[in-house]
Amino acid sequence: MSTPTLTAPAAAPSLAWSDDIALGHEAIDQTHMEFVALLADAEMADDEALLPKLQELITHTIDHFGREDQWMAATQFAPVNCHGMQHRVVLQTLDELMRRGRDDGELQLVRDILPELGKWFTQHAQTMDAALAAHLDSVGFDPATGQMAAPQALPAEAIAGCGGSSCAS
Ligand SMILES: [Fe+2]
Ligand SMILES: [Fe+2]
Repeated sequence: MSTPTLTAPAAAPSLAWSDDIALGHEAIDQTHMEFVALLADAEMADDEALLPKLQELITHTIDHFGREDQWMAATQFAPVNCHGMQHRVVLQTLDELMRRGRDDGELQLVRDILPELGKWFTQHAQTMDAALAAHLDSVGFDPATGQMAAPQALPAEAIAGCGGSSCAS
């Protein structure tokens, strides 16, 4: 059996909560604060804790994306839309990263990808999630109850794009 390589935790988390990523939507911001904290925990973990922390981050992210997908489905997004597609791609990437960390012992790869996930998240929050937050507010959607105060504000056509600048439609 080969001895696992010792890898070093990050000197500091790559992403901190700030006004740059706050969207002013309570439910989304709360979830995003959790994401930022779990990402930092994973980045700062020692070798033994790294994969358990990655798993916590993945578990959170399944829930986090699942909720946003549900809110989209409830407010006239098409079943396939670019925001939901991006969620799926990121979850597949995280699954593959966990597999390579767990089965192939590639802990350094995990450490290298985590800050990239942080960069992706910043961009995603500022575009797709920001557009979703504005859309939810425009129809008065209450995430706690799933009720809409202004369903008449829903668009007539199902939304296949994401409303963000990163999406063509
Ligand atoms: Fe999000
Ligand atoms: Fe999202």
